[in-house]
Amino acid sequence: MTDRHLAIIVLAAGQGTRMKSSLPKLLHPLAGVPIVSHVLATARALDAAHVVTVVRHERDRLAAVIAQDLPESVIVDQDEVPGTGRAVEQAVAALPDDFTGDVLVINGDVPLLNAQTLASFITKHRASAASATVLSARPADVNGYGRIVRNGTGAFDRIVEQKDATADELGIDEINAGVYLFGLNALRDQLANLTTDNSQGEKYLTDVIELLRGAGSEVTAVPVAEPWVVAGINDRAQLSETAAILNALIVRGWQLAGVTVQDPASTWIDLRATLAPDVTILPGTQILGSTVIETGATVGPDTTVLDCEIGADATVKRTDATLAVIGSGASVGPFAYLRPGTHLSADGKIGTFVETKNAVIGVGSKVPHLSYVGDATIGEGANIGAGTIFANYDGVNKHRSEIGSHVRTGSHNVFVAPIRIGDGAYTGAGTVVRKDVPAGSLAINVAPQRNMDGWVQANRPGTDAANAAAKSGD
Ligand code: UD1
Ligand code: CA
Repeated sequence: MTDRHLAIIVLAAGQGTRMKSSLPKLLHPLAGVPIVSHVLATARALDAAHVVTVVRHERDRLAAVIAQDLPESVIVDQDEVPGTGRAVEQAVAALPDDFTGDVLVINGDVPLLNAQTLASFITKHRASAASATVLSARPADVNGYGRIVRNGTGAFDRIVEQKDATADELGIDEINAGVYLFGLNALRDQLANLTTDNSQGEKYLTDVIELLRGAGSEVTAVPVAEPWVVAGINDRAQLSETAAILNALIVRGWQLAGVTVQDPASTWIDLRATLAPDVTILPGTQILGSTVIETGATVGPDTTVLDCEIGADATVKRTDATLAVIGSGASVGPFAYLRPGTHLSADGKIGTFVETKNAVIGVGSKVPHLSYVGDATIGEGANIGAGTIFANYDGVNKHRSEIGSHVRTGSHNVFVAPIRIGDGAYTGAGTVVRKDVPAGSLAINVAPQRNMDGWVQANRPGTDAANAAAKSGD
């Protein structure tokens, strides 16, 4: 049910300088979706009356993600005054005049934060008399965070940013998680009093705490039990640390749902992938994008699948596949490369050192060894000989090949597209198929073989080969 007394402000206007990236920090992928998408999903789950997201740096790219993930959010453009305090000031101004209640502020770079943590945080704040509550944490590494300064009695006094902290303050082990709940009026009053009088020349949201205390208001800091929940991402080292934590959670979730993951440390599963019970994932495997894996399938070892559909009981071993459909009971690899548009039907096979692209392979058909299948349709129950190339490109245009059902093609064929091979046809080894082959025909076009008797002994006398030939009874 919508919380009519709750407004959420998501801060997403920062530049993310410490990432040293041309991609805005909040759009860096984490488990296959932008960092900010995790925060927007959490905000959405809280079902607040109003959500405002503040953008500035690369605003159009951020706005596109917000429009997709949290369309109910109002988007506010931060002006040239820097700092989290300014961002919140402008967001508050965008709230409707008739709104009364609490304002939850979340940094856009705290992606592991979940709705349960926030719900209990909101409950604690509302049960207290505080005009502001700050979520705090005691992580092993406090570097980069603002520190929670408490007075002699242990009461929360203010937040000092790392860059403004004294040596003593730098030793404080409790940090500001970047998540705050404010009474709207108290917040609005103090935002007006923020200055840029600090080492970074920014309006710090964190200074609101000290201002509220000065005005006689009560503020509290509530520590989270597990500090990883509020891990903030400022640089790429923190990005990979956070990704590892999230991946461990995702893998464990699938394990508890009935998926065997032999080696969680070397298995990466994106947020949007779905796996059925009794799927087995072997070491060194990445299940990326919106991949779907059906029951009984075995994927890995050393396999990357992106946006693929893998059917029940299929086996995919040492393979790289993107936008491919692998039918139930089918077998892929080892060492296969499936490019977009590959559709391997049930019980089919794409074997060792085989590359496929825009290839529809019928039920039970096999491409077992050392082949390239591009822009092709293969019927049911066909077998493509080892070392076959579908020559789909004439140097200017791509053309399709159509291979019928129950076709048997010889080893080391070239199919020069556009070409059709009819149902039940055969081709000989080494055939370069340039003309259509009618159903049931055998196509051969290799030159007849000529054996020149005694050639080795005459032309390579005394060699091991010549001696072996001399000794041979043939
Ligand atoms: C901030 C807090 C710090 C806290 C930490 C928790 C302040 C002043 N400091 O520091 O106490 O420990 O988060 O992770 O708030 N942003 C804007 N507009 C701006 C600047 C930033 O919207 O002008 C957004 C950023 O996109 C980001 C968030 O606010 O999502 C936090 O900004 P960041 O620069 O990462 O703050 P920290 O230095 O991490
Ligand atoms: Ca940050």
